[in-house]
Amino acid sequence: MGCFKSFSLYISFLFLLIAFRVVVSGDRTSDGRIMSDRASLVSFMSGIVSDPGNALQSWNSSNLHVCNWTGVLCNGARSAIVQLDLSERSLGGTISPALAGLSKLTILDLSKNFFEGRIPAEIGSLVELQQLSLASNLLEGTILSELGSLRKLVYVDLRSNKLSGGIPEGIFCNGSSFLDYVDLSNNTLTGEIPLRGECELGALRYLLLWSNGLVGQVPRALVNSTGLMWLDLESNMLSGELPSEIFRKMPHLQFLYLSYNNFVSHDGNTNLGPFFSALANSSNLQELELAANKLGGEIPANIGNLPRTLGQFHLAENLFYGSIPPQISNLINLTLLNLSSNFLNGTIPTELCQMERLERVYLSNNSLSGEIPSALGGLPHLGLLDLSRNKLSGLIPDSFANLSQLRRLLLHENQLSGVIPPSLAKCVNLEILDLSHNRLSGTIPDEVAGMRSLKIYLNLSSNYLDGALPLELSKMDMVLAIDLSANNLSGTIPSQLGSCIALEYLNISGNRLDGPLPVSIGQLPYLRALDVSSNRLVGEIPQSLQASPTLKQLNFSFNIFSGNVSDEGAFAALTVDSFQGNSGLCGSIKGMQACKKKRHYHLIIVPILLSLVVTPIFCVFGYPLTLRSKIRKKLASFSGINMVDEEKQETIEHQYPKISYRQLMEATGGFNPSSLIGSGQFGHVYKGVLQDNTRIAVKVLDSKTAGAISGSFKRECQILKRTRHRNLMRIITICSRPDFKALVLPLMSNGSLERHLYPSHKLNQGLDLVQLVGICSDVAEGVAYLHHYSPVRVVHCDLKPSNILLDDDMTALVTDFGISRLVKGGDEGVPPYDTTSFCSTDGLLCGSVGYIAPENAEYGMGKRASTEGDVFSFGVLLLEIVTGVRPTEVLFNECSSLHEWVKSHYPHNLDPIVQQALGRCSSPSMPEYLRKACCEVIVELIELGLMCTQYSPSTRPSMMDVAHEMSSLKQYLSDTSSQEMEATSSKG
Ligand SMILES: *[C@@H]1O[C@H](CO)[C@@H](O)[C@H](O)[C@H]1NC(C)=O
Ligand SMILES: *[C@@H]1O[C@H](CO)[C@@H](O)[C@H](O)[C@H]1NC(C)=O
Repeated sequence: MGCFKSFSLYISFLFLLIAFRVVVSGDRTSDGRIMSDRASLVSFMSGIVSDPGNALQSWNSSNLHVCNWTGVLCNGARSAIVQLDLSERSLGGTISPALAGLSKLTILDLSKNFFEGRIPAEIGSLVELQQLSLASNLLEGTILSELGSLRKLVYVDLRSNKLSGGIPEGIFCNGSSFLDYVDLSNNTLTGEIPLRGECELGALRYLLLWSNGLVGQVPRALVNSTGLMWLDLESNMLSGELPSEIFRKMPHLQFLYLSYNNFVSHDGNTNLGPFFSALANSSNLQELELAANKLGGEIPANIGNLPRTLGQFHLAENLFYGSIPPQISNLINLTLLNLSSNFLNGTIPTELCQMERLERVYLSNNSLSGEIPSALGGLPHLGLLDLSRNKLSGLIPDSFANLSQLRRLLLHENQLSGVIPPSLAKCVNLEILDLSHNRLSGTIPDEVAGMRSLKIYLNLSSNYLDGALPLELSKMDMVLAIDLSANNLSGTIPSQLGSCIALEYLNISGNRLDGPLPVSIGQLPYLRALDVSSNRLVGEIPQSLQASPTLKQLNFSFNIFSGNVSDEGAFAALTVDSFQGNSGLCGSIKGMQACKKKRHYHLIIVPILLSLVVTPIFCVFGYPLTLRSKIRKKLASFSGINMVDEEKQETIEHQYPKISYRQLMEATGGFNPSSLIGSGQFGHVYKGVLQDNTRIAVKVLDSKTAGAISGSFKRECQILKRTRHRNLMRIITICSRPDFKALVLPLMSNGSLERHLYPSHKLNQGLDLVQLVGICSDVAEGVAYLHHYSPVRVVHCDLKPSNILLDDDMTALVTDFGISRLVKGGDEGVPPYDTTSFCSTDGLLCGSVGYIAPENAEYGMGKRASTEGDVFSFGVLLLEIVTGVRPTEVLFNECSSLHEWVKSHYPHNLDPIVQQALGRCSSPSMPEYLRKACCEVIVELIELGLMCTQYSPSTRPSMMDVAHEMSSLKQYLSDTSSQEMEATSSKG
């Protein structure tokens, strides 16, 4: 190794010498120049130790001109290299000083690789360099002052490395008047920002230094950079008064981020006014972030003089007191306002409601009092309202019913009273509703309990709610967590709660619920935590809970449960703490009394008394760490303590193996047309091989489809991912970027059913009847699962041969299910996404011509997808298989469609169809009785196909019935063929 290193040092020294000679001798032929550049690159390549994507393959080809090497660009005369762009190539190794030989280089981009070690000082000799990007590597050490000699530098990006030490003065102060873009963010740089008064950065437009350890003040010399557009100094340790002088003449400023520092306001940290007035002239200002500093004083009235262009305004986590000034309403373009975690008091000014563009409003964790202004219900775009942790009183305004875009409503920890307005159910996009820790009374309105849109959680705990648990709760089939604890709810627990199939967390402790605990709760497929403590539940603890593979945390304490409890299954990790105060319980749980033969019923009285006096203690109930942190993250993102925006939150939540866009690019040869294996309504499918040799199919949603999908893509995919069945295609992972959305699936060796039904080579033998019936049975099983058993009911919407794939042993897997759900928001009448995105799916039909049910075809895309529609498509598929005719191609005499044509032969005229089918999918050598059996099966298939394609959706069989029928046909055929086997073997 050492030898090798010194050798390459020697080589690079050699090239430096050569480069030196070039400069000295001056008039080298252009051929010589390019040869020396080539040698520099060869030497640079020796520093690269890993190139998994073979990016530098062309560099090894001896007959390719250096100007044609990947990433290399020469000048017009091909006499010198002027650009080297190897960004995002997964290269690893060190950056060789030999690069210094490329003396005509103007652009050097090695960003987004795995280069480590130091930045070579020799780069300082690239005097022509205008753009230098080494961002997102693993570079360490200090930024060398040699970079200061690059006088033509316009663009420097060293973001996201491990660079340390101070910023060299030379970077800013090199006499270059061109510097436009400087990004040193996300390193561990320390010291002050070395921008001295005498260095004018007149051309500077972007200065990004966020996430470092910089100290001191914002340099006054920035005052000369009057063209500044972005200044991001977030997450450092900068201090002093907020810089106001600097910004007085910055008309182009768009984004000013100063959050997470130690800034204070003027006049001994009492006056924010001067800073706001300094910004009044920045008439392009769009985002102003001052969160998490030490800013004190009242929010001044001249907030209203800030530029009207302002769209986002963060003042959270400071020390502001006093009331919210009504002048804030001048900021009519504001979409996000965050004033949470200060010491604000007074009422919420009704003027807030004049800011009609508001989408997200965070006022939580202050001391706001009075009533919630009803006028807030008039903000047409409001998607998130967080007023939690204040002292708000009075009623929840009825006007919230008008907030059709509202997704998250957080009113917890206030003093709100009255009933939960049933009209809240009109917020059809609501995903999170938290009204916990208030003084709400009355019953839980059926309308609110039936809000299917709730996807994340419903928290009504710690109020004074009474009455029964509404049956409508069973409609919440997407919600992850329900907390109704610490109320006065009574009655029995409806077994229908078992329909909340996505539920992971259920807390109904601290109420007055009685009766038994329903078996169905234990059957919830994803339930991880259940707290029913401190109620009056009786009877035995259902076996289903113990049998649950997912349950981790349980609390049955302080009820009247009785019977024998063993320490098996989900109970294995529990201690007696989960069963306290149920003296009728006995068994093998650690610390629990062993069972005696005779039960002592009189003991039951004690727990009843106990359950009355013991208030629910939450810490008894420890949620599993993962769930706790998951829920905590969710809560944190809404409570304003640790504001995570929605996108970030989604990355936190996503649980797939990571496959990056780059890896997909590599796996598919850059989505090369030769990797294309299919294309459909929603996009193209490419095959590919991952580095670990997994063969994959990548379904890239086309931009129209992707554009119609809102931010819920990942969550929806998660639901799809839970949908597991041997006849449904599994999603390995998803790749989601703003401009690119793809599903990654396993590659099926035998391709699609389409390919087998209509082989391109006539030589290809088609499938025989046994195989075809097996495939149809598989398909029916898969779709029946989607319709009847999967966690969330999924309508396929586009069942046809090209969406049925065959694996090695010809098992059929249905693919492409649920994409329609992603686009259209499921089979419910109410689209869970923005109505705007719903409308923008123009042209996306539900289903394919030929397979689409008449009721869906007539209404086009506006009609909701239905399970009956899938049954119709399955029927067409059966008839297609029997007749061997594509439903799309042929004109069927007088009939308008395949199924009508078949129907016109039924029942007396079927023979030609049956004989033709028999000819195609059986062998001539078939024994007579087997032929007869095949005939019967073909007739059955036709009948089933016709039943499924009946005009009226309600008279079609359910997919469950269809699957049952198919499976008995399959059985019948297999029994008959095994008879044949026996017959032949007995003959032999
Ligand atoms: C190199 O590229 C040029 C044009 O960019 C082309 O004309 C030439 O044929 C290429 N040479 C080789 C060896 O590929
Ligand atoms: C900051 O840099 C680290 C690596 O040093 C990287 O993992 C992280 O994604 C970067 N953060 C951002 C926000 O770019």
